Amino acid sequence: MKRVVIFASGSGSNAENLIKFFHNSDTASVIQVLTNNPHAKVLDRCKKLNVSALSFNRIAFSKSEDVLNILKAAQPDIIVLAGFLWKFPEFILKEFNNKVINIHPALLPKHGGKGMFGMNVHNAVVHNKETETGITIHYVNENYDEGAVIFQAKCSVLPTDSVEDVAEKIHLLEMEHFPLIVNKLLK
Ligand code: GAR
Repeated sequence: MKRVVIFASGSGSNAENLIKFFHNSDTASVIQVLTNNPHAKVLDRCKKLNVSALSFNRIAFSKSEDVLNILKAAQPDIIVLAGFLWKFPEFILKEFNNKVINIHPALLPKHGGKGMFGMNVHNAVVHNKETETGITIHYVNENYDEGAVIFQAKCSVLPTDSVEDVAEKIHLLEMEHFPLIVNKLLK
Protein backbone atom coordinates (compact mmCIF):
# COMPACT_ATOMS: atom_id res chain seq x y z
CA MET A 1 0.00 0.00 0.00
CA LYS A 2 1.23 3.47 -0.91
CA ARG A 3 1.27 6.06 1.87
CA VAL A 4 -0.34 9.50 1.53
CA VAL A 5 0.33 12.40 3.92
CA ILE A 6 -1.84 15.52 3.68
CA PHE A 7 -1.11 19.08 4.82
CA ALA A 8 -4.13 21.37 5.28
CA SER A 9 -4.75 24.70 7.01
CA GLY A 10 -8.50 25.16 7.08
CA SER A 11 -11.77 23.43 6.37
CA GLY A 12 -10.26 20.30 4.89
CA SER A 13 -12.98 19.36 2.40
CA ASN A 14 -10.27 18.18 0.00
CA ALA A 15 -8.53 16.25 2.76
CA GLU A 16 -11.82 14.54 3.65
CA ASN A 17 -12.50 13.72 0.00
CA LEU A 18 -9.03 12.19 -0.38
CA ILE A 19 -9.36 10.20 2.85
CA LYS A 20 -12.74 8.80 1.76
CA PHE A 21 -11.50 7.98 -1.75
CA PHE A 22 -8.52 6.02 -0.41
CA HIS A 23 -10.62 4.26 2.25
CA ASN A 24 -11.97 2.18 -0.61
CA SER A 25 -8.68 1.71 -2.42
CA ASP A 26 -6.11 -1.05 -2.46
CA THR A 27 -3.53 1.30 -3.97
CA ALA A 28 -3.02 3.72 -1.10
CA SER A 29 -4.28 5.13 2.14
CA VAL A 30 -4.06 8.48 3.91
CA ILE A 31 -1.93 7.73 6.95
CA GLN A 32 -1.42 11.19 8.44
CA VAL A 33 -2.84 14.70 8.25
CA LEU A 34 -0.74 17.66 9.41
CA THR A 35 -1.93 21.21 10.00
CA ASN A 36 -0.39 24.52 11.02
CA ASN A 37 -3.73 25.56 12.56
CA PRO A 38 -4.77 23.94 15.86
CA HIS A 39 -8.35 25.21 15.32
CA ALA A 40 -8.69 24.01 11.73
CA LYS A 41 -11.90 22.18 10.87
CA VAL A 42 -9.77 19.55 9.17
CA LEU A 43 -8.89 18.22 12.64
CA ASP A 44 -12.59 17.49 13.41
CA ARG A 45 -12.97 15.80 10.06
CA CYS A 46 -9.96 13.56 10.75
CA LYS A 47 -11.31 12.63 14.17
CA LYS A 48 -14.60 11.51 12.60
CA LEU A 49 -12.78 9.64 9.87
CA ASN A 50 -10.36 7.98 12.28
CA VAL A 51 -7.23 9.38 10.67
CA SER A 52 -4.25 10.49 12.70
CA ALA A 53 -3.87 14.29 12.68
CA LEU A 54 -1.36 16.62 14.28
CA SER A 55 -0.92 20.36 14.45
CA PHE A 56 2.48 22.04 14.48
CA ASN A 57 3.85 25.55 14.85
CA ARG A 58 6.37 27.49 12.82
CA ILE A 59 9.33 26.38 14.90
CA ALA A 60 8.46 22.72 14.38
CA PHE A 61 7.91 23.28 10.66
CA SER A 62 10.67 25.50 9.42
CA LYS A 63 13.03 26.39 12.26
CA SER A 64 13.75 22.84 13.37
CA GLU A 65 13.54 19.34 11.95
CA ASP A 66 10.50 18.26 13.99
CA VAL A 67 8.03 18.10 11.09
CA LEU A 68 10.74 16.72 8.80
CA ASN A 69 11.32 13.91 11.30
CA ILE A 70 7.58 13.16 11.47
CA LEU A 71 7.58 12.90 7.68
CA LYS A 72 10.69 10.73 7.60
CA ALA A 73 9.05 8.35 10.06
CA ALA A 74 5.80 8.32 8.06
CA GLN A 75 7.64 7.41 4.83
CA PRO A 76 5.07 8.94 2.49
CA ASP A 77 4.98 8.07 -1.20
CA ILE A 78 3.28 11.39 -1.80
CA ILE A 79 2.74 14.56 0.25
CA VAL A 80 -0.43 16.39 -0.74
CA LEU A 81 -0.99 20.05 0.09
CA ALA A 82 -4.76 20.50 0.21
CA GLY A 83 -5.50 24.08 1.19
CA PHE A 84 -2.16 24.46 3.00
CA LEU A 85 -1.18 28.10 3.32
CA TRP A 86 2.40 28.13 4.59
CA LYS A 87 5.35 28.08 2.25
CA PHE A 88 6.91 24.63 2.19
CA PRO A 89 10.53 24.75 3.43
CA GLU A 90 13.23 23.91 0.92
CA PHE A 91 15.01 21.50 3.27
CA ILE A 92 11.84 19.37 3.46
CA LEU A 93 11.28 19.55 -0.31
CA LYS A 94 14.85 18.32 -0.82
CA GLU A 95 14.14 15.15 1.19
CA PHE A 96 10.95 14.45 -0.77
CA ASN A 97 12.01 15.42 -4.25
CA ASN A 98 9.07 15.40 -6.71
CA LYS A 99 6.78 13.92 -4.08
CA VAL A 100 5.08 17.12 -2.88
CA ILE A 101 2.05 18.33 -4.83
CA ASN A 102 -0.43 21.16 -4.34
CA ILE A 103 -3.88 22.05 -5.57
CA HIS A 104 -4.54 25.66 -6.55
CA PRO A 105 -8.06 27.00 -7.25
CA ALA A 106 -7.20 28.79 -10.52
CA LEU A 107 -5.54 28.18 -13.86
CA LEU A 108 -1.91 28.88 -12.99
CA PRO A 109 0.11 30.91 -13.86
CA LYS A 110 -2.97 33.11 -13.45
CA HIS A 111 -3.91 34.15 -9.92
CA GLY A 112 -1.01 32.49 -8.10
CA GLY A 113 1.58 33.69 -5.61
CA LYS A 114 1.66 34.78 -1.98
CA GLY A 115 -1.74 35.75 -0.57
CA MET A 116 -3.61 34.11 -3.45
CA PHE A 117 -5.68 31.46 -1.75
CA GLY A 118 -9.32 30.49 -1.40
CA MET A 119 -11.78 33.37 -1.81
CA ASN A 120 -9.00 35.86 -2.72
CA VAL A 121 -8.50 33.89 -5.92
CA HIS A 122 -12.21 33.72 -6.82
CA ASN A 123 -12.57 37.41 -6.04
CA ALA A 124 -9.79 38.23 -8.50
CA VAL A 125 -11.40 36.03 -11.18
CA VAL A 126 -14.77 37.79 -10.85
CA HIS A 127 -13.19 41.24 -10.50
CA ASN A 128 -11.15 40.72 -13.73
CA LYS A 129 -14.30 39.56 -15.56
CA GLU A 130 -12.61 36.31 -16.59
CA THR A 131 -14.74 34.03 -18.78
CA GLU A 132 -13.14 30.85 -17.49
CA THR A 133 -11.26 29.58 -14.47
CA GLY A 134 -10.35 26.20 -13.07
CA ILE A 135 -8.00 24.18 -10.92
CA THR A 136 -4.30 23.39 -11.17
CA ILE A 137 -2.55 20.44 -9.57
CA HIS A 138 1.20 20.97 -9.60
CA TYR A 139 4.50 19.93 -8.06
CA VAL A 140 5.69 22.18 -5.26
CA ASN A 141 9.00 23.95 -5.59
CA GLU A 142 10.67 26.73 -3.60
CA ASN A 143 8.40 29.44 -5.08
CA TYR A 144 4.66 29.81 -4.41
CA ASP A 145 2.56 28.18 -7.17
CA GLU A 146 5.42 27.87 -9.67
CA GLY A 147 6.19 24.14 -9.79
CA ALA A 148 5.54 22.02 -12.90
CA VAL A 149 1.86 21.62 -13.76
CA ILE A 150 0.51 18.06 -13.54
CA PHE A 151 -3.14 18.68 -14.40
CA GLN A 152 -5.65 21.45 -15.07
CA ALA A 153 -9.44 21.40 -15.44
CA LYS A 154 -11.51 24.38 -16.55
CA CYS A 155 -14.99 25.74 -15.98
CA SER A 156 -16.76 28.73 -17.44
CA VAL A 157 -17.44 31.92 -15.51
CA LEU A 158 -20.69 33.65 -16.45
CA PRO A 159 -21.06 37.43 -16.24
CA THR A 160 -23.78 36.80 -13.64
CA ASP A 161 -21.61 34.52 -11.45
CA SER A 162 -20.89 35.77 -7.94
CA VAL A 163 -17.66 35.01 -6.11
CA GLU A 164 -19.57 32.28 -4.23
CA ASP A 165 -20.81 30.77 -7.53
CA VAL A 166 -17.22 30.54 -8.77
CA ALA A 167 -16.11 29.02 -5.46
CA GLU A 168 -18.80 26.34 -5.81
CA LYS A 169 -17.73 25.48 -9.38
CA ILE A 170 -14.11 25.17 -8.28
CA HIS A 171 -15.10 23.05 -5.30
CA LEU A 172 -16.89 20.61 -7.61
CA LEU A 173 -13.87 20.37 -9.92
CA GLU A 174 -11.58 19.73 -6.94
CA MET A 175 -13.86 17.00 -5.55
CA GLU A 176 -14.03 15.30 -8.94
CA HIS A 177 -10.40 15.38 -10.03
CA PHE A 178 -8.01 15.63 -7.08
CA PRO A 179 -8.26 12.03 -5.78
CA LEU A 180 -8.05 10.63 -9.32
CA ILE A 181 -4.87 12.57 -10.06
CA VAL A 182 -3.24 11.60 -6.74
CA ASN A 183 -4.18 7.98 -7.45
CA LYS A 184 -2.70 8.18 -10.95
CA LEU A 185 0.56 9.62 -9.63
CA LEU A 186 0.86 6.76 -7.15
CA LYS A 187 0.39 4.04 -9.77
C1 GAR B 1 -9.15 24.72 -1.97
O1 GAR B 1 -10.01 25.38 -2.86
C2 GAR B 1 -7.72 24.79 -2.50
O2 GAR B 1 -7.64 24.74 -3.89
C3 GAR B 1 -7.29 26.13 -1.98
O3 GAR B 1 -7.82 26.21 -0.69
C4 GAR B 1 -9.06 25.50 -0.65
C5 GAR B 1 -9.04 24.60 0.56
O4 GAR B 1 -10.31 24.09 0.82
N1 GAR B 1 -5.86 26.25 -2.00
C6 GAR B 1 -5.24 27.41 -2.20
O5 GAR B 1 -5.84 28.45 -2.38
C7 GAR B 1 -3.72 27.33 -2.22
N2 GAR B 1 -3.14 28.55 -2.68
P1 GAR B 1 -10.50 22.86 1.82
O6 GAR B 1 -9.77 23.23 3.12
O7 GAR B 1 -11.96 22.76 2.04
O8 GAR B 1 -9.92 21.64 1.18
